[in-house]
Amino acid sequence: MSLESKVRGRYIPKHIAIILDGNGRWAKKRNMPRNLGHKRGTLNLKNITIACNVLGIKALSVYAFSTENWKRPKEEVDYLMELPKQFTEDYKGQFKENDIRVMFSGRRDRMSKVNYDLMLEIEEKTKDREGLILNVCFDYGSHFEITEAVKQIAKDVKDNNVDISDINEDMIASNLYTKELPPLDLMIRTSGEQRISNFLLWQLAYSELYFTKKFWPEFSKKELLKALDNFQNRDRKFGGLKEKK
Ligand code: FPP
Repeated sequence: MSLESKVRGRYIPKHIAIILDGNGRWAKKRNMPRNLGHKRGTLNLKNITIACNVLGIKALSVYAFSTENWKRPKEEVDYLMELPKQFTEDYKGQFKENDIRVMFSGRRDRMSKVNYDLMLEIEEKTKDREGLILNVCFDYGSHFEITEAVKQIAKDVKDNNVDISDINEDMIASNLYTKELPPLDLMIRTSGEQRISNFLLWQLAYSELYFTKKFWPEFSKKELLKALDNFQNRDRKFGGLKEKK
């Protein structure tokens, strides 16, 4: 039986997240400029998004630009800021064919007007699609996301819309960018680093973690199937005991 049929016959995670890492090292290994690594990474993001949709995954969150990535050289930041436009222009046809919805999570207050308008436009144009939701985390950081949720709830208390005794985990979750997405089942990081780097810290409470040495541009559909196969062989207990078979 092929790996794909094996994976398809078992529980398919509803929501997976990927820390897209290793574009720079992928390019360096080939004596190419780092930006070419990001270009290849963008193409790969399109391929993996479609592969996830075909497998029946409902949501894919990707870490495309962190709140800390502004510290990179200006030339690289400028290039990364072009990617939302390039990505959506190059692949909008294929996303439409696959009924893929696109949303963006992250700070909007530091975006250029072009990116700000583009994000709103894409979210509006794709909002009724019923295939996979691609959640592009751009100028995203978990600490910022949670801080904003705390501020919003504090404001709701101050305005007498919420009583302190009613604050619970669901209320916090409903103030995060991911409020409409299913619980996170699996987080993948490419390129051999084994850390979370401020990505979806609240959401990953019970998700499985998978680390691979492959650089993001070489994380193919076969690598995705390997990660899913590995996930399907884990015992998820959510703090309880393993279910008797
Ligand atoms: C990490 O590699 C990658 C990034 C910081 C950018 C990732 C972005 C994409 C793949 C495309 C984004 C697409 C959209 C739609 C915005 P790195 O530069 O940290 O690699 P290194 O660790 O090898 O230097």
